[in-house]
Amino acid sequence: MKIVIVIPTYNEAENIGRLTDVLQQEFLKRPQHDFHILVVEGNSPDGTANIVREKMKSNLNVHLLMEKVKAGLGAAYVYGFREAMNELKADVIVEMDADFQHDPKDMVRLIDEIDNGYDYVIGSRFTKGGSIPEEWAFKRKFFSVGGNIFSKLVLGIFNVNDFTSGFKASRVKGFVDRLSLDKILSQGFAYKIDLLFKMHRLGAKIKEVPIKFGLRDRGDSKMEKNNLRDSLRVVVLLRYNENKSFVKFLFVGVAGFIVDASLFNILRISILSSRNAALASGFVAMMVTFLLNNYWSFGERKIEGVKEKVLGFVIYITSSFIPIFVRSKLVGFAVSTFGDTALVSNTAFLIGIIFGLIWNFTVYSKIIWKGKK
Ligand code: GDD
Ligand code: MN
Repeated sequence: MKIVIVIPTYNEAENIGRLTDVLQQEFLKRPQHDFHILVVEGNSPDGTANIVREKMKSNLNVHLLMEKVKAGLGAAYVYGFREAMNELKADVIVEMDADFQHDPKDMVRLIDEIDNGYDYVIGSRFTKGGSIPEEWAFKRKFFSVGGNIFSKLVLGIFNVNDFTSGFKASRVKGFVDRLSLDKILSQGFAYKIDLLFKMHRLGAKIKEVPIKFGLRDRGDSKMEKNNLRDSLRVVVLLRYNENKSFVKFLFVGVAGFIVDASLFNILRISILSSRNAALASGFVAMMVTFLLNNYWSFGERKIEGVKEKVLGFVIYITSSFIPIFVRSKLVGFAVSTFGDTALVSNTAFLIGIIFGLIWNFTVYSKIIWKGKK
């Protein structure tokens, strides 16, 4: 596999050269993989870029991406992710800091879990065996631990303990390549929470590997002062957006119902028997809702690519046919038993609708737009 370690830097001249050297040694431990280093440089005044350029002369697997201006950690990673995917054709992307707070020796431990079939491997400080520096002030420890518990509860992701870890490995195919990186919720450090949430919703198999988060080797932290507020904002916004998507889903259901019920009655009164009218109106409503769901309710996870769309639609049709069929049988049975009146046919029709809603929601969320809980 091609593995690209993306390392954002801002004033890391004292660290970046040594880090690339240590990483090169680590790469030798997994000769089956093709390792690359991609430094995303925030236009540091301390000459970080020159040190990387120097390394590039003798190391073909070191790459440098220059930002015009330092625009925040989230912005740097989005830039790096795009380059790693589109230019370097990465299969796996590793996020890592330049300051040795992440032990380079832990990198292969993350990769091993990708090899074991996980899609998103988090170097976790808050899982058994992991730790944050003892030296940290109580306040920083408190907010770090507290913030993670808060994120867990609000986002409802219970198999993750470290939401802001900066050390992780992500599978590209099916995951990073499906993230809408242009819609990232934070340009700063809080982008981590956003991407973690979206990976989880994409159905990534997540694994936490315990890491001991060290002290910064040299230089100063670049954590923004507003990081705590920004992270809170991202957590709350994610939750809100999720509900918004559910509300949209309900609206689509109502729209589908209006199309379905009116068409059913128009057809029933005009040209078709009640049984066939229930069948025909169901099909039309199904097409309308598929389009609305794909482009609106599940718009963030919309199915892309012609082949995938056709497949999604085929599953949609096939699965939707079942409740429509059941409903048509139900209506047929009702009118033949109790007489073909508006009351009888509509009551049977409604029962069929309720069954269909439950059936469809289960299939959409578990299969077609999976990841949506
Ligand atoms: N290009 C670029 N632009 N790089 C940046 C920027 C930026 O705006 N801000 C920071 N960096 C680089 C730093 O040079 C370093 O390599 C890495 O990103 C992490 O920055 P630090 O300043 O070392 O962050 P930290 O140690 O305070 O925070 C770490 O721990 C947090 C959790 O406590 C990071 O791993 C965070 O991602 C993590 O959330
Ligand atoms: Mn650091």
